[in-house]
Amino acid sequence: MCGQSPDMARIAELARAHGVRLIEDASHAIGAEYLGAPVGNCAHSDITVFSFHPVKIITSAEGGMALTNDFGLAERMERLRSHGITRDPDQMTHTPDGPWYYQQLELGWNYRMTEMQAALGLSQLDRLDAFVARRRKLAAGYDAALADLPLRLPGRIDGAESAWHLYVIRLDDAARHRAVFGALRASDIGVNLHYIPVHLQPYYRRFGFTPGDFPIAEDYYSRAISIPLHAGLTDVEQQTVVEALATEMMA
Ligand SMILES: Cc1ncc(COP(=O)(O)O)c(C=O)c1O
Repeated sequence: MCGQSPDMARIAELARAHGVRLIEDASHAIGAEYLGAPVGNCAHSDITVFSFHPVKIITSAEGGMALTNDFGLAERMERLRSHGITRDPDQMTHTPDGPWYYQQLELGWNYRMTEMQAALGLSQLDRLDAFVARRRKLAAGYDAALADLPLRLPGRIDGAESAWHLYVIRLDDAARHRAVFGALRASDIGVNLHYIPVHLQPYYRRFGFTPGDFPIAEDYYSRAISIPLHAGLTDVEQQTVVEALATEMMA
C-alpha cells in the first residue's frame, strides 16, 4: 500500500502454517525494498504483481508484470497470457504433428503486452531509481514540514523502504475531512482519496456487506487524503501544498 511493503516474512509464515499460496500485490511498490532486497524478488511469496498503469511509479501506458521464482508457475502464466496455447514440445501431450504445431492446453486470455508498451516500460525502468529517489526526497520533505500539524503521517515498518507511490495523511479530526479536502481542491491542489473501502462499493454490498463491517477501514476512509507526490513535483510546488494544507488545518 502506497509503496510500503508489509512485513512479508510474517505473512509468509502465516501462509505456510495454513498451506496457503501467496500472491503479493506490489502494484504501488516497484522500487521499494524489504529487508534490504527489492520488492518483487518473491523471497516471501509465490508471485508478485506490479501495475504499470499511467498513475504508477513507472508506466507502460497500461498493463503490468507478474514475477515468480517457480518455473511451473512461470510456464502456466506464460500460457494463460496467450489463450492457454503452447509451442513448447515439452509441454505437449504428444509429439508435435509437424513444425506448424501448437497445442491449446487450457483456456487462457489475451493478456499480451504490445511491443510499443514494452518499449515504453523498458525506457521507464531505466528511470526507476531516479523516480524513487525523488519520491523519497519529497516524502522526507513532507515528513518534516507536516510533523506539527494535527494529522497522522504515513505509517512505516522496520526493515522496509517505501517507493512512495502515494503520500497519505490522516486528519486527527474526521469532522474536518470534507472541508479540508474541498479547500485543497478549490486551491487547484490535486488531492485524492486512496481508497474507498471495497465493502462499501455496490458490487460488494450485493454480497451482504454493510457499513460497520470493517470499522478500521471506514475510520481510515473518513480521515485519509493523498497529497500530491510524483517525480515531477518541484520543491516550489511542494511548498505550495504544505502552505495550503497548513493554512486549512489551522483554520
Ligand atoms: C494496489 C493495486 N492493485 C492492483 C491495481 C490494478 O492495477 P491495473 O489497473 O494495472 O490492473 C491497482 C490500480 O490502481 C492498485 O492500486
